[in-house]
Amino acid sequence: MGNDTPNEARQFWEDWYQKGAKPWTGRPNAILKQFAESLPTGTALDLGCSEGNSAVWLAQQGWQVTGADISSTALERAAGHAADAGVSERTHFGQHDLSQSFPAGQFDLVYALYLESPMHLSRAQVLKQAADAVASGGLLLIVTHASVLPWAWKQEEIVFPEPQEALDSIGLNLDGWNTDFLGAPERELTGPDGRAATVKDIIIALRRQP
Ligand SMILES: C[S@@+](CC[C@H](N)C(=O)[O-])C[C@H]1O[C@@H](n2cnc3c(N)ncnc32)[C@H](O)[C@@H]1O
Repeated sequence: MGNDTPNEARQFWEDWYQKGAKPWTGRPNAILKQFAESLPTGTALDLGCSEGNSAVWLAQQGWQVTGADISSTALERAAGHAADAGVSERTHFGQHDLSQSFPAGQFDLVYALYLESPMHLSRAQVLKQAADAVASGGLLLIVTHASVLPWAWKQEEIVFPEPQEALDSIGLNLDGWNTDFLGAPERELTGPDGRAATVKDIIIALRRQP
């Protein structure tokens, strides 16, 4: 994470989407799907929603979904995918540099899937705001990489934190919360280039007590 200005961070992600990245798969993230399937439908907030893979799927399941991302290109594509899926009325996509502004409201499910950036991102601050945005009885789901994907930008040696360290690094006040899941399971994944791989994710799932 650098000392980049908000403009540079926005420009970085605009360029990433405009210069060829097309993360739309039409499928939700498998971990999000697994958790959401056990919940009653309600309101959800997707932080760093990208082109809406998970948000559009949730809306198709009956959720009312707010998606936030720094990239207007990603958001336009997400809105287009929602329209194609016939769920525009159950989705709202808004531009936020989450280090600077955060969507208003309380949500039954707030999730951040790989909300990571090589540019400046006040991640712990954003995730604390994410916790504040969880309604009574609601779920906060945070998923990060715990292995280097074979198709990642950089193939580098990274020492990933243990799940408890990852949770501690956010600095949440966990009074009034239950831990539904904290771990780093492996799963099989097919990459954008069609390659199959075993990957590992840190999953933090916290439930606000009713
Ligand atoms: C690694 S991608 C993950 C996208 C998606 N959540 C997924 O699981 O595929 C990170 C996303 O966060 C967005 N992002 C990066 N920095 C951000 C910031 N400061 N505020 C809001 N979104 C940001 C990027 O535009 C990108 O869509």
